[in-house]
Amino acid sequence: MSHVLLLNGPNLGTLGTRQPEIYGTTTLAEIEETVAGEISARGWKLVSEQRNGEGELIDLLQEHGDALGAIVNPGALMIAGWGLRDALADYAPPWIEVHLSNVWAREGFRHMSVTAPLSAGVVMGMGALGYRLAAGALTRLVTAS
Ligand code: DQA
Repeated sequence: MSHVLLLNGPNLGTLGTRQPEIYGTTTLAEIEETVAGEISARGWKLVSEQRNGEGELIDLLQEHGDALGAIVNPGALMIAGWGLRDALADYAPPWIEVHLSNVWAREGFRHMSVTAPLSAGVVMGMGALGYRLAAGALTRLVTAS
């Protein structure tokens, strides 16, 4: 079955309880369910993975090069994850970067993403809803190509 990859980086496995004033109270499991529902109308399956380590995220991208597309929240690796950036540069399917928080409204060190310029687009500041919006956008990108 054709699949979409949902990849979440460091510290995103604790969503729901992690700094809820910034990231909200929705858990990663709930986000996964929503994204899976969004793409299921097309008959696509969701493969969702979360890792804290950059190397493991790179391994997953290389394993899922056959995905229709991907939704990626690199977490803090957006700031200086050069290895992840290189893996994304070599990742052929279309992918969308998601940030729950509006990183531009936060500390200066979060204002630069080394990964975002490689993405098809970025959704940020919309909380958990951002993943659903990204799934809808990715569906349109994949079906238009
Ligand atoms: C984040 C923003 C990053 O700056 C931060 O390090 C995260 C979460 C977000 O989704 O808003 O871990 O990617």
